[in-house]
Amino acid sequence: MQELQSVKQRFGIIGNNEGLNRALDIAVQVAPTDLSVLITGESGTGKEIFPQVIHSFSLRKHGSYIAVNCGAIPEGTIDSELFGHEKGSFTGATDSRKGYFEVANGGTIFLDEVAELPLSTQVRLLRVLEAGEFMKVGSSKSQKTDVRVIAATNVDIVQAVAEGRFREDLFYRLNTVPIRIPALRERGDDIILLFRKFAVDFAERYRMPAIRPDAQARDMLLNYFWPGNVRQLKNIAEQISVIEQAREITSGILANYLPDYNNPRLPVPVKGRSDEKSFSSEREILYKILFDMKSDMNDLKNLVYEMMGTSGDISNLTESGNRAARNLFSDVKMHHDHFQNDRKPTVSIRETKDNNLIQDTEEVVEESLSLSEREKELILKALEKNGGKRKLAASELGISERTLYRKIKEYGLE
Ligand SMILES: Nc1ncnc2c1ncn2[C@@H]1O[C@H](COP(=O)(O)OP(=O)(O)OP(=O)(O)O)[C@@H](O)[C@H]1O
Ligand SMILES: [Mg+2]
Repeated sequence: MQELQSVKQRFGIIGNNEGLNRALDIAVQVAPTDLSVLITGESGTGKEIFPQVIHSFSLRKHGSYIAVNCGAIPEGTIDSELFGHEKGSFTGATDSRKGYFEVANGGTIFLDEVAELPLSTQVRLLRVLEAGEFMKVGSSKSQKTDVRVIAATNVDIVQAVAEGRFREDLFYRLNTVPIRIPALRERGDDIILLFRKFAVDFAERYRMPAIRPDAQARDMLLNYFWPGNVRQLKNIAEQISVIEQAREITSGILANYLPDYNNPRLPVPVKGRSDEKSFSSEREILYKILFDMKSDMNDLKNLVYEMMGTSGDISNLTESGNRAARNLFSDVKMHHDHFQNDRKPTVSIRETKDNNLIQDTEEVVEESLSLSEREKELILKALEKNGGKRKLAASELGISERTLYRKIKEYGLE
């Protein structure tokens, strides 16, 4: 018990919840072994500190510790990042490169978001775990490495196994020691402790008195569903600290910061929300659809334009095709004669294109700029709305989690 308190202090872990203590205790106990550990828990529960605890209590503590976010690495390069590659093994592989499993020899690798690993990479990973052996991409020579693997995921990995997205043998191998981090809503008074801690931290940072929830607000904190767990609590404490003038936080103030307080399990506000809000989210969805359609449209236009350009021939367009083409390209200001259905069918589209080249390009650039701004905004909104949960945000946006990761990186939204 004494030991746990000092671990918490050393790693800045707040809380006394039984589930949390248990998780921490297992981490400390298992640390000196070389067993694989799988850390599970919802998004934002605080999984990332656990592998560090395990590493620093292990006999490998002087070896290297490498944390890899499997979800953030593009599928095409993940094998090479993890296991390295030989020179010339793929286009662009101008040098051979060591992978993390080679670099971390004698140390620990933390595979975060492990469920995102492609199946082919899972095979390689299983081999390292079972035989301590791996092959660089493009090599046929096995290499030895001595690495302790700790993995984490916020997805239901048993379900991923059932759906064939995660190898069962790998799951059992990783899950030698399971550690489950409880959701924030299960932690009772820890919620208040955490809120207080974050409030004090931010107060120090911004040099102002710390916010304090009143009795009703505390009840509200205790009863909220916390879909984004500790991460969400931290964000909210920061927002309130910065935005609100008052330092005593009432339930009225707090309610503004807890999305769907009365209906926490529903992803879309149904009742008790102001019309304005639901209207604006509907409008957002409409915007998204419109922008998507607009960009599809542009792609189509370009495609057709190119196709016509290569053959330079529209003689085989039907009457209606001809009309459609004229409408479609009216903004490109093509010479109308080109679309007259007369007996002089061969058209030099390229000539026309050249005439309009600059104007055309500008339009596209501008459009894609505003589109990406819009996309950025939508991503931020979706993340905010889902308490930072990428999985939920991705499914709301209708894109894969991997794409969302890429976009977050691309737009620097971390
Ligand atoms: N018990 C705790 N005490 C103090 N801070 C905590 C605690 N648990 C989590 N945090 C903080 O909450 C934030 C989210 O934690 P973390 O990044 O580890 O979440 P996660 O479980 O990895 O989530 P995801 O699955 O989305 O990656 C971090 O800023 C972390 O420092
Ligand atoms: Mg994480």
